[in-house]
Amino acid sequence: DLPEDRLSQILADHAGIEGPLLPILHAVQAEWGHVPDAFLPRIAQALNLSRAEVHGVKSFYHDFRDEPAGRHVVKLCRAEACQAMGGDDLADRAKARLGCDWHETAGNVTLEPVFCLGLCACGPAAMVDGRLVGRVDAAVLDRLLAECGA
Ligand code: FES
Repeated sequence: DLPEDRLSQILADHAGIEGPLLPILHAVQAEWGHVPDAFLPRIAQALNLSRAEVHGVKSFYHDFRDEPAGRHVVKLCRAEACQAMGGDDLADRAKARLGCDWHETAGNVTLEPVFCLGLCACGPAAMVDGRLVGRVDAAVLDRLLAECGA
């Protein structure tokens, strides 16, 4: 399918549902791995919204990417229990090693903050490509990043 056709399909699938914008943005991201800015005018038109409104919603939710994620996604827990276990240092280390900030991609790796992974007793916690990792110290972090090719 051409991207245009697929976008039309997504818009049609969500026609008439209540609060369609978020589900549409999620569907677009599921399809393309990000929400291309080029799609926003079509989405706005279909929903009778201004382009600025659609853009505002997209940027409010950090889940929606401007560009495809890296091949690997490393999420570090930023919630309280993990912060108390050295989460801040770990975050600084990850940013420094990758040379990027939250929501950015360096090489293969996209770095994301996450707010509690349910592993509070084994903090600091991380999730690498959907796999939970507890007790992440500097050495474990370095190994995880190395496994991702960073
Ligand atoms: Fe980090 Fe719950 S606070 S896993």
